[in-house]
Amino acid sequence: MNNKKILFINACDRPDSRTKRLADALLSRLKGEVTEIRLADEGLTPLSYEELMRREACIAAGEYDDPAFRYAKAFAGADEIVLAAPYWDMSFPSEVKVFVERISVRGLTFTFTPQGEPVGLCRAKRLWYVATMGAEGLPFDYGFGYIKGVCGVYYGIPEIRLISACGLDLDGRDAEAIIAEKEREISEMPSD
Ligand SMILES: Cc1cc2nc3c(=O)[nH]c(=O)nc-3n(C[C@H](O)[C@H](O)[C@H](O)COP(=O)(O)O)c2cc1C
Repeated sequence: MNNKKILFINACDRPDSRTKRLADALLSRLKGEVTEIRLADEGLTPLSYEELMRREACIAAGEYDDPAFRYAKAFAGADEIVLAAPYWDMSFPSEVKVFVERISVRGLTFTFTPQGEPVGLCRAKRLWYVATMGAEGLPFDYGFGYIKGVCGVYYGIPEIRLISACGLDLDGRDAEAIIAEKEREISEMPSD
């Protein structure tokens, strides 16, 4: 039995989401136990000043039992992570950023050296970012690029990979065929 813990962060709210289809294809290739956090079901809100102060007090006291830390603990403890988010407004749905605010907890997902350098505390060796885009040729810098930055610099996850399908909403494109082809590619990826 494979006890690898896979965390699936699902930001695909739309019924029949194409991004979710690709994420499912990927998850079926990964070996381990999958825990899903479907962001739309979590009622996530941006971190308020009061929550921030409470969080800082807990961190200062070294107390991490508060339920507010559950996302950071799940993220830090995962062996592999899949984050699926459609391409929205050159980035991702805002709930993804709110989730990042919730997992960026000093002492759980990262810490600082005495010189002020961030050091990752996350277990995961790899994070997959899965996205689909209506157009094509637009930059992934502000969605995938941001996740790559925060996961690499703060959380210490060494390998961040992108799986994407583009052009799904362009006139004359067969979105179903594009997705089916990408599912096939995923099914043929070497497993490791
Ligand atoms: C709110 C919103 C914003 C979007 N912004 C963009 C965009 O900036 N560029 C683009 O090419 N497509 C954009 N799209 C289209 C989606 O990227 C595309 O339809 C994608 O495949 C949706 O994924 P889904 O099927 O998983 O929901 C947007 C769609 C929505 C609903």
